[in-house]
Amino acid sequence: MSTDTSGLGAIDRGAGRVQVDDKAMINARADVNQLLPLKYHWAWEKYLAGCANHWMPTEVSMQADIALWRSPDGLTEDERHAVQRNLGFFATSESLVANNVVLAVYRHLTNPECRQYLLRQAFEEAVHTHTFEYICSSLGLDEGELFNMYREVPSITDKAAWALEYTRHLEDPGFRTGTHGADQAFLRDLVAFYVVFEGMWFYTGFAQVLSLGRRNKMVGVAEQYQYILRDESIHLNFGIDAINQIKIENPGLWTERFQAEVRAMLAQACELEVAYGRDTIPNGLLGLNAELCEQYMRFITNRRCAQLGLAPVFGPVDNPFPWMSEAMDLKKEKNFFETRVTEYAGGSSLTWD
Ligand SMILES: [Fe+2]
Ligand SMILES: [Fe+2]
Repeated sequence: MSTDTSGLGAIDRGAGRVQVDDKAMINARADVNQLLPLKYHWAWEKYLAGCANHWMPTEVSMQADIALWRSPDGLTEDERHAVQRNLGFFATSESLVANNVVLAVYRHLTNPECRQYLLRQAFEEAVHTHTFEYICSSLGLDEGELFNMYREVPSITDKAAWALEYTRHLEDPGFRTGTHGADQAFLRDLVAFYVVFEGMWFYTGFAQVLSLGRRNKMVGVAEQYQYILRDESIHLNFGIDAINQIKIENPGLWTERFQAEVRAMLAQACELEVAYGRDTIPNGLLGLNAELCEQYMRFITNRRCAQLGLAPVFGPVDNPFPWMSEAMDLKKEKNFFETRVTEYAGGSSLTWD
């Protein structure tokens, strides 16, 4: 047994071998450099699924998008605005999420199979950031405008600022889990980034761009969003599994009061997303408007509550975009956009949403 949770401390030469039961999600004393014996098979499975879904943005042709973007009557002003706001939100969000994974979450998850997944996720976030660099340069967008939207467009700034509140104490070098308050702070960060950022706030953007793709517009960007969505659905589900496992191992953390707090976080996050939806498509697009995006976000919010074992925030809501769940299963819907879609080896048939 070691007291080192980073894996970088002095080697304890006299320690016994790691037993499965020594392993824990947080505050474990088992050596974090030893992957085996595996305890959390769900984490390992997600690592394998992530690797099987490997893709690179440069494999997707941008020719049709470039032609459409340059053509004066290719897109309406509203469509152009929606695409730009959308790209602006994602361009920096991928880096924010990556920084939270690497600099906040990784330190405090004391389990090697979870860390194995986090390393894979961190790489995928790099691929996602690369995607926005690739789109920006392909379309000849103003990079300063795109990468500063998270500071300059209030509906985007409000979301980023909300999430950063939850990671601020974790990145403090003095922060340690192991007390009731600190462990709850860590859970709040997992909720803010995995459930809200990756599990709610990316979904309006996905729906908007995939909806354009369904109308044969910006098909390259839409195809890239489809790959990102597939990755993100695993990130989200890793986060949900991690939170639920921490709850099982530390039942004292999941108090009534804390549950009410998490539900309030999701309700607030939904409100911020609805405002962002209105800002991205103020006049609506063909087949899509801010009201439908709001309904979709309420549906997603209730779904996230259920995944965390919480009572829904809203009354029953129908999913206005049932095609979104089809878009997540690339194998089944490989002709989704009727463009070239590479079938990646081993692409798993994900049913997660
Ligand atoms: Fe991402
Ligand atoms: Fe992600």
